[in-house]
Amino acid sequence: MSAIAHEEHGHHEAHGHHDHEHHEEHFVSKYIFSHDHKMIGKQFLITAVFMGVVAMLLSILFRIQLAWPGESSDFLSFFLGETWAPNGVLKEDMYLGLVTIHGTIMVFFLLTGGLSGTFSNLLIPLQVGARDMASGFLNMLSFWFFLISSVLMFVSLFVENKRFPDLDWV
Ligand code: HEM
Repeated sequence: MSAIAHEEHGHHEAHGHHDHEHHEEHFVSKYIFSHDHKMIGKQFLITAVFMGVVAMLLSILFRIQLAWPGESSDFLSFFLGETWAPNGVLKEDMYLGLVTIHGTIMVFFLLTGGLSGTFSNLLIPLQVGARDMASGFLNMLSFWFFLISSVLMFVSLFVENKRFPDLDWV
């Protein structure tokens, strides 16, 4: 145990001098548009956990309707209003939208982003003894596309079909 503690201590000291050169790093380049695999891993983790909570909240809405099919719910009426839950009953297309966005967010923005985005970024460079991923810039872009696409996926829930009304078959 003390050997490990010793080693870690030594490790820090060995890099101490290098760290000084990076100390003036700006907040934005350190936490927001970071090229560092460890920070990017954390960004993926935070986004994935947040999206998991969003998808869980969506599941509560449609699961309530599924438990009492066709019945009115004050909860749904309160949170979704007349537009999406007239008289407290989920509109059919809103039900389908909620299930679909729930499943898609869970799979792509919790599982895929959360697991591979977080753990491959965080662990692989450490496991193979590399300083970082091959391209920090692309790695950063990868997170930002992930974040933008997760927002787009969520807001697509509110897009209505006005262009092809014939397709409103539900
Ligand atoms: C928070 C707890 C969760 C609840 C209460 C919940 C509830 C549900 C329910 C009731 C359905 C079926 C709805 C229907 O067919 O009418 C569903 C579908 C689905 N769920 Fe969840 N779920 C939860 C968490 C998760 C998680 C953690 C994942 C994956 C990581 C997930 C992925 C999916 C997928 C892929 C579908 C199918 C979506 C579709 O048919 O378009 N869910 N969920």
